[in-house]
Amino acid sequence: MSSTDRIEPDGERKQVTVLFADVKGSMDMAEQHDPEEWRRIMQGFFSILADEVRRFEGTVDKFTGDGIMAVFGAPVAHEDHARRACFAALRMLDDIAEYAAELRRKHGLNFSARIGVNSGEVIAGSIAAGGSGEYTAIGHTVGLAQRMEALAEPGKAYLTEATAELAHGFLELEDLGEFEIKGASRPVRVFELAGVGAARSRLDLSRERGFSRFVGRGEEMGVLEGGLERARAGEGTVVGIVAEPGVGKSRLCLEFVERARGAGIEVFEAQAQAHGREIPFMPVLQMLRAYFGIADSDPERLVREKIAGRALLLDPGFADDLPVLFDFLGVPDAGRPAPQLSADARGRALRGIVCRLVRAPNRREPIVCLIEDLHWIDESSASMLDELFAAVEGTPTLVVVNFRPEYQRPWNGPPDYREIALEPLGPNDTAELLRDLAGEDPSLDGLAELIHDRTAGNPFFIEEIVRELAESETLQGERGAYRLAHPVDDTGVPATVQTVLAARIDRLGREAKRLLQVASVAGKEVPERALGLAARLGRDEMEPLLCELTESGFLYEVELYPERIFAFRHPLTREVAYGTQLGEQRAATHAAVARATIELNPERQDELAALIASHMEAGGEAREAARWSARAAYWAGSSHPADALRLWRRVMELVADLPEDEETAALAVASRLLQLQFAWRLGMDREEMTRLAGEAEEIATRTRDLHSLAMLKMATAAGPGIAHQAEVWIESVEEVNRLADESGDLHLRIALRAAGAYAYLCAGDFEGYEAELDRVLELADGDRGAGAGIVIGSPVAWATMGKGLVLRERGRLEEAEELFNRALTMATEDGDPETASWTRSNLSLMLATRGEAAAGVALARRNCELTERLGDVFSRSLALSNLAGALLGAEEYAEALETIDEAERVYREAMDSGGEQETWRAAVRAEALIGVGRPEEALELAQWSTDVAKERGMRWSLPLNLRVLALARAAVGLEGADEALAEAAEVAEWTGAMLSLEAIEEARGRLAAGAR
Ligand SMILES: Nc1ncnc2c1ncn2[C@@H]1O[C@H](COP(=O)(O)OP(=O)(O)O)[C@@H](O)[C@H]1O
Ligand SMILES: [Mg+2]
Repeated sequence: MSSTDRIEPDGERKQVTVLFADVKGSMDMAEQHDPEEWRRIMQGFFSILADEVRRFEGTVDKFTGDGIMAVFGAPVAHEDHARRACFAALRMLDDIAEYAAELRRKHGLNFSARIGVNSGEVIAGSIAAGGSGEYTAIGHTVGLAQRMEALAEPGKAYLTEATAELAHGFLELEDLGEFEIKGASRPVRVFELAGVGAARSRLDLSRERGFSRFVGRGEEMGVLEGGLERARAGEGTVVGIVAEPGVGKSRLCLEFVERARGAGIEVFEAQAQAHGREIPFMPVLQMLRAYFGIADSDPERLVREKIAGRALLLDPGFADDLPVLFDFLGVPDAGRPAPQLSADARGRALRGIVCRLVRAPNRREPIVCLIEDLHWIDESSASMLDELFAAVEGTPTLVVVNFRPEYQRPWNGPPDYREIALEPLGPNDTAELLRDLAGEDPSLDGLAELIHDRTAGNPFFIEEIVRELAESETLQGERGAYRLAHPVDDTGVPATVQTVLAARIDRLGREAKRLLQVASVAGKEVPERALGLAARLGRDEMEPLLCELTESGFLYEVELYPERIFAFRHPLTREVAYGTQLGEQRAATHAAVARATIELNPERQDELAALIASHMEAGGEAREAARWSARAAYWAGSSHPADALRLWRRVMELVADLPEDEETAALAVASRLLQLQFAWRLGMDREEMTRLAGEAEEIATRTRDLHSLAMLKMATAAGPGIAHQAEVWIESVEEVNRLADESGDLHLRIALRAAGAYAYLCAGDFEGYEAELDRVLELADGDRGAGAGIVIGSPVAWATMGKGLVLRERGRLEEAEELFNRALTMATEDGDPETASWTRSNLSLMLATRGEAAAGVALARRNCELTERLGDVFSRSLALSNLAGALLGAEEYAEALETIDEAERVYREAMDSGGEQETWRAAVRAEALIGVGRPEEALELAQWSTDVAKERGMRWSLPLNLRVLALARAAVGLEGADEALAEAAEVAEWTGAMLSLEAIEEARGRLAAGAR
């Protein structure tokens, strides 16, 4: 496969800072000058600007005629892009002021420049087709930077709030208030760049905001303390701390050096800076200044005194080195000039001095030297480290350094060197940190886990996410005492975190970075082969890239066998890698991931269908997405009804945007029909049901789709829960069966007949019910898959259960039990948890009425638990009703009442009506009410439900309604109990409900006993 086949990015989304600088009023000035001379003036100006851009590793994007546009953070990301731009701007203003003074002297010119800066996302890349054009950045962020420039007063640099947010603390800013800016939808807060700020590192910023409580790190602290002990004993040593940004290297060092200082030990600190790589010896000089106790405000003479004083005390031999030291530290003594040395020789001289300072024999007191962020160290300083570390040996010195994992240690093993690989915080430490930052309000429950998952325990990310949540007012209140205003499932990636992560990603090689982007599209975890297919890389090509990605800590292997599976170490990295891609490229990758998933998992396609569908959709392949969603929906079927409903809705939406043809029309009908199928299980509002049915009928009629029409009729007129008379219901069922028979589709005939049989049961027509079930079994002819999953998961299991039900009603309990058990086994084996739930319901109630109340209640409870997981309202309500019924048998009236109320509530909330079981639930509830001593309410309910059951012809529940009516009448001392019982017995005899007859007899006995 050639590399041109690969999906190559020709642009990326990037977080950058854009800087515009130009000459104020250049047109007028140009007019007044000879063009050649003006050109020279402008060239001088441009070169100042370009030099400063380069110094801070920005890119000059273009020359604008009288100025430049520069970008910091692209093509190579810098985590401190905003700071770099600001530093560059400050220096530009200084240099230009000098240049302007010169021009004023020479040409009498009033030359001044202005600068505008803004940070945010741009699309960076080549804009010409085919990637041959110049690299450039485009986007709204660029426009706003230009507007800042136009707004700025001569000689000033203006920043937007976006840059201010990132540069805050590192630079001094003056808030100019909000401005209406053309092209910006809301007012923009503008800041003037006033100078360098006090903060040198992120930790300085944290200090300013107030440190969070220091958590964990006991072991690491132990290693550092051990180092200090050795230094005290004159066995100098070096400790290195390595970790990714934000894990807490600086904080650990800070806590340690504070302790050391507390114990009276001198500590000297230095720090390499991201933008300081080009400045030789920066940290070394910083360390020396600290060592000699030099403050910024010290006059030169005092500085020289401090240097000389300390050095000579240590070793009089330093006398000869003073001129060189003075020179290095920027305070040359005019009386004793330093010898002229080449850069190399200067470096050697400095190195020698530093090592002698460390080894000075007169030094007895232990010291700690801390050098932070070695990964940013300049080359000159780096070249000293080896010698410095060696010099420490045998002296009372502890050197502590820290750096990121990508740093190549230039020393070849100092004699006594220890390295701490600092790990992110564990879940407990994260929770503790979060308690400190956010507090312990109950609304915060679960937030710690979420944040730990997202940040993988990186304290910097944790702090930033909390800050961002507070700024967006998701967390309300104040630091340490927040409340969660609304639930969060996604915390976003704070801009400060984003820049850090984007910079890390950008340090990867181009191919590795591309592979990481593909992985980010594929998911949190991705199998190796799928990754290879999606990225179109062969095994051999991919191996080194995977190594690079795992070694640099982006991915890790979650599984090795039978296939390697890679996962992102940080969820946030994945989001950033995902977000850096252009939409088009990302879509193509999504589609490629979908195809790879299909190709690699021929046996698991049903299970993976929803995932494939979502990749197809994100890949812009609506038809494929609709197909796979439908497949996923079928698969979710009745075992995950809520998922199935959601997926069918998605199919409907996807198909709506496609042109109609045979396939899309079929999907349009099926998606509506199957949503309706879930109406009786999950609930749906009437209006929506009517609309879906109307649309489906229109399309099915047009395409002569008999199959669907039969199903539709089932869903709209012959399903449970539809408020109608038993007679009308049965008529609809008969019509459905006719339609199904006409379609000649055996599965459909079985499926619809099985479902429709329920109408006969509710009507108390046990014979009719049984006849329909027998027909189902006969049509299925031993094939347990017959008609499966169309309406009910397993029609054969369901018919078996139904036959058990009839036997139960007829009082043949042993045989009933056997059938229930058989049905339960079948339903479980055939993956039909719904029928299993219904069967358990029926079995539990039977046990309870048979005098095994405890067993009945136990089974019913277990059934409620199992059914809860289905997420199906119909089954859940049914399971609860049966539990209530079983509880009556156990004479647990209070709980029975609570349970039946819950069953009622669950059903009504979803369905907007009581459904076909309404009268039966009422009978259970009325009996519970009598049990808890509320006979008046029981009477009213029993009367109402008796009337409704009669009116609707619900003869299955009617004897029970009448029976409880009798009990209620007796309980309140009303006449007519016997009449009600007589009527109940009459209906029960007519329907053949022997079990009800027994219950009626039992009630008669109770009443007689009560009357005596
Ligand atoms: N153990 C810790 N307990 C509490 N906060 C911590 C801890 N470690 C780091 N932090 C906080 O996390 C942020 C990032 O830590 P820092 O030391 O600057 O990371 P690094 O130097 O590794 O980039 C800081 O605000 C710091 O105060
Ligand atoms: Mg740090």
